[in-house]
Amino acid sequence: MFTKILINNNEEIALAPLAVLPEYQRQGIGIALIEKGHSIARRMGYHYSVVLGSKDYYKKTGYEPAKNFGILAPFEVDSNNFMVKRLNNADKEINGVVNYAKEFKI
Ligand SMILES: CC(C)(COP(=O)(O)OP(=O)(O)OC[C@H]1O[C@@H](n2cnc3c(N)ncnc32)[C@H](O)[C@@H]1OP(=O)(O)O)[C@@H](O)C(=O)NCCC(=O)NCCS
Repeated sequence: MFTKILINNNEEIALAPLAVLPEYQRQGIGIALIEKGHSIARRMGYHYSVVLGSKDYYKKTGYEPAKNFGILAPFEVDSNNFMVKRLNNADKEINGVVNYAKEFKI
């Protein structure tokens, strides 16, 4: 699932949760879902997707530590696990604290 977030009043997206039924895991479905989501988000004009999770897993789809972009979590977190994927190369530098959808109650 991807939800809308705000970073410094710019609308971007966050990835979570991601789940594949146990009997279908380790067949590339998780990565395929993420990459398809990125491709749709790119077409919709989003610049960044953020995720909180395993750095070993999400780096397979190009996520890197969000601190490299000056993008910060609104809670205490190991900075290596709070990551960002830049979706397009447009000249749009966005940084600041992530504001999640109100449903997350963060
Ligand atoms: C995490 C999850 C979505 C991965 O889905 P998947 O379809 O099994 O993943 P893929 O087959 O696309 O994974 C491809 C690669 O990631 C690796 N990988 C899979 N799960 C991993 C994990 N939990 N941690 C690190 N690496 C993982 C695989 O070994 C594979 O690596 P390889 O290409 O080098 O062999 C799935 O295990 C799941 O639903 N887990 C329970 C829910 C969860 O924890 N979601 C994530 C947090 S919201």
